[in-house]
Order: sequence, then C-alpha cells, then structure tokens
Amino acid sequence: MPDEISGINLEKGSLLTRVRKVLEEREKKIHELNKAKTELEEANKRLAALLNENYEVGKILVRRDMELSEANRHLIALDESKSEFVSVAAHQLRTPLTGVKWAFNELLDKELGKLNSGQQAVTEDGLKSSIRIIDLVNELLNVARIEEGKYGINPKKQSFINLLKSVAERMKQGADNKGIIFAVDISPDIPLIKIDEEKMGIALENLIDNAIKYTLPGGKVTVEAFLGEDGVKIEISDTGIGIPEEQIERLFSKFFRGDNALRLQTSGTGLGLYVVKNIIEGHDGTIDIESIDGKGTVATITLPCA
Ligand SMILES: Nc1ncnc2c1ncn2[C@@H]1O[C@H](COP(=O)(O)OP(=O)(O)OP(=O)(O)O)[C@@H](O)[C@H]1O
Ligand SMILES: [Mg+2]
Repeated sequence: MPDEISGINLEKGSLLTRVRKVLEEREKKIHELNKAKTELEEANKRLAALLNENYEVGKILVRRDMELSEANRHLIALDESKSEFVSVAAHQLRTPLTGVKWAFNELLDKELGKLNSGQQAVTEDGLKSSIRIIDLVNELLNVARIEEGKYGINPKKQSFINLLKSVAERMKQGADNKGIIFAVDISPDIPLIKIDEEKMGIALENLIDNAIKYTLPGGKVTVEAFLGEDGVKIEISDTGIGIPEEQIERLFSKFFRGDNALRLQTSGTGLGLYVVKNIIEGHDGTIDIESIDGKGTVATITLPCA
C-alpha cells in the first residue's frame, strides 16, 4: 500500500512539473506576443508619421509644380511678345529702308546728274549699307516668324536644278569680286522635287554666302548637286578658314558666330544657319556641316525625292 501511495505521489509530482512547464511556456509566449505587439504599435506610429510627412512633401511638390507651370506660362507669353515686337519692328523698318536703298540707286543711275568721284564713292557705300540693313531686317523677320510658328513652308513640285542654277548665278559675282574661284556642278538627272522656291532659295543663298564670306581671296567654292541613294544631295564646299571642331555643334544656334569668323572681322549676325536648318527640316531634309579648322568646310543638304 505505501508503495502505491508513493507511486501516486510520484506521478502527481511529475504532472505538476509538466503543468508548471506548460504554464511557464505560455507565460513566455504571452510575454513575447506582448513585446511583438508593442513593436508593431511603434512601427505603426512611425509609418503614420512617415505617411504624414510624405503627404506634406506631396503638398509642397504640387504647389511647386503649379508655381513652375505659372512661371513657364509667363515666360512663354514674354517670349511670344518679344517675337511679336521684333516682327512688328522689322516690318516697320523695311519700308523706309527700301526707300533709302531706292534713293541711293537713283543717285547712282545718274539721271539726276553726274556724281563726282567722291560723291560716287559715298553713295555706293550708302547703297551697300542699306542693303546690309535690309538683309539683317529680313533675317530678323524670318527668325521671328519661325519662333511664332508662322514661317509657312509651301512646297510645290518643281525643278530644283533651275533654282540652284539661278541662286549660283546670283552669288557668283560676290565670289568673282573677292578673287575666289566659283565652280558649279549640277547633275542633269535630278528629278522634279517638292520645294518652296523662295525659302529654299534663302537657304541655298545663305550657305553659298557663308562659303564665300569665310574663304580668303585665291580660295575656291564649289557647289555640287546630284542624285544620291537617299535623295537629292547638295554639297557646298570651300577652302576657307574652317571651324574649330568643338564649335561645330553650336553652328545652328541663334546668334552663334565662330572664333575664326570673328577673328576675320566679317559682318554677320549668326542667324543664317538657324534659318537654313529650319527651312531644310521644313522640307523633311537634313543638313550636316563638316569642317577642318583652317582648311575648309563642307555643308551637305539631303532632300527627299518623293
Ligand atoms: N563655310 C564656313 N566656313 C567657316 N565658318 C563658317 C562657315 N559657315 C558658317 N561658319 C561659322 O558659323 C557661324 C554661323 O553662321 P551663320 O551663317 O549662322 O551666321 P553668320 O554668317 O555669322 O551671320 P549671318 O546671320 O549674316 O549669316 C559663322 O559665324 C561662322 O563662324
Ligand atoms: Mg551666314
């Protein structure tokens, strides 16, 4: 009997130990769970603070965006009114300037009486200057129209050969006067293509004018046109002063003039190539300029045939 009792006591003892162990483990789990809960609450609080902060930053960004849009609208309006001002001023200048040019021409025509050599020289200078101002005014007008989006290009199918020939003929005199060899080689197989005669004439004149202006007496300017694989190619090359390599990418920006050109003390506004690029791209064509400093320059235009 005592044996049985002691057996029961033993079993009771181990049961108690097991219950205590289970209770201890539960206690531990509850403690861990509470700890995790507190950490979660902390994390939640941090998240809420972060979200709030983000919301504030978002509000600031939206406000900044609105301010920037407003400033941008203001700048666009300013730019438009500047282009409009240049356009109106240039228009107003053109008429009196044409009158001045006409007056010098009348004097040189000698219908109003013979000029002595001094008067002749002064009148010729006056005529040259008036032509220069008219060219400048026209160039400013072109730039203003491009910027206002009003530089309409209306291409019609016609002979590119005839246009290039007449521009080259007009420009030859300038080369001859400067003692520059002027060679023109136009392939007869160039088909009729869609061009705006007036605008394309301006582009070709500008490029040939550059070639002559930036070539010293005794040099050579060549105008070539032929049918290439990707369209009509026009190459205007010269043996002139060239352009430093690092300046090539800036040639088509408004008012850019290269160091070599400035050193040569030639007149110019740096608007010519900006207008040329707009005209050529308005014809779905491309223009590329390659140059070797001090040796010469080649401008290549490619125009689509279709
Ligand atoms: N054939 C060339 N040879 C050397 N430099 C050139 C040539 N063509 C252009 N350039 C350089 O590119 C610059 C920009 O040419 P662009 O025709 O735009 O202006 P510009 O000739 O100076 O003035 P304008 O507006 O009267 O034409 C020139 O000032 C010159 O530095
Ligand atoms: Mg020029």
